[in-house]
Amino acid sequence: REAPTIGDNVQAAWAALRDEAATCTRCHLYKHATQTVFGEGPVDARMMFVGEQPGDQEDLAGTPFVGPAGQVFNRAIAAAEIDRSRVYVTNAVKHFKFEQRGKRRIHAKPDTGEIQACRWWIEQEQMLVRPQVTVALGATAGRSLFGRAVTIGRERGQALRLPEGGEAWITVHPSYLLRLPDPAQKEDEFARFVEDLKKAKAAAG
Ligand code: URA
Repeated sequence: REAPTIGDNVQAAWAALRDEAATCTRCHLYKHATQTVFGEGPVDARMMFVGEQPGDQEDLAGTPFVGPAGQVFNRAIAAAEIDRSRVYVTNAVKHFKFEQRGKRRIHAKPDTGEIQACRWWIEQEQMLVRPQVTVALGATAGRSLFGRAVTIGRERGQALRLPEGGEAWITVHPSYLLRLPDPAQKEDEFARFVEDLKKAKAAAG
């Protein structure tokens, strides 16, 4: 048998981290969510994408970005010629936060305490994957990664540095595009999103 490589060790450490996250009680959100939705993708990925939190469908599937926002995300990264199977996709908060309205579970925004509590996981993911480039999708991801409030309009489209080192880019969250009522604006904003992703991809090499 061949000796384990560094890559094998990182993969094993990541799997252990994911298993540990499955029983996370660092904040109260685990109480109502179906399961922890951990990051997904190769541990040697050059790009890491960070969303906000799992939605209804992600909570049920246990996989990030598979619901409506995930469809927009998939279309946008495909337009930027990014192969999803080669990037690491995760969320700032790993349990679904929602308000029950009848049978429906309505997305509720994670607060700064929940984002802070969950930062521990994203820091571990960052240390294991060590991506060339991290892309923050929206303000929650920005707050988690930078530890401060971010202004997407002002900070998007340029290379930024993470407090722990490493390059990051900020862009909109795909659900922002879903919410835009005007089709023309939707199209423009989608194109801008794709432009941001293309720049981040070029920076990742
Ligand atoms: N929105 C997110 O931010 N993350 C997901 O995984 C799904 C929707």
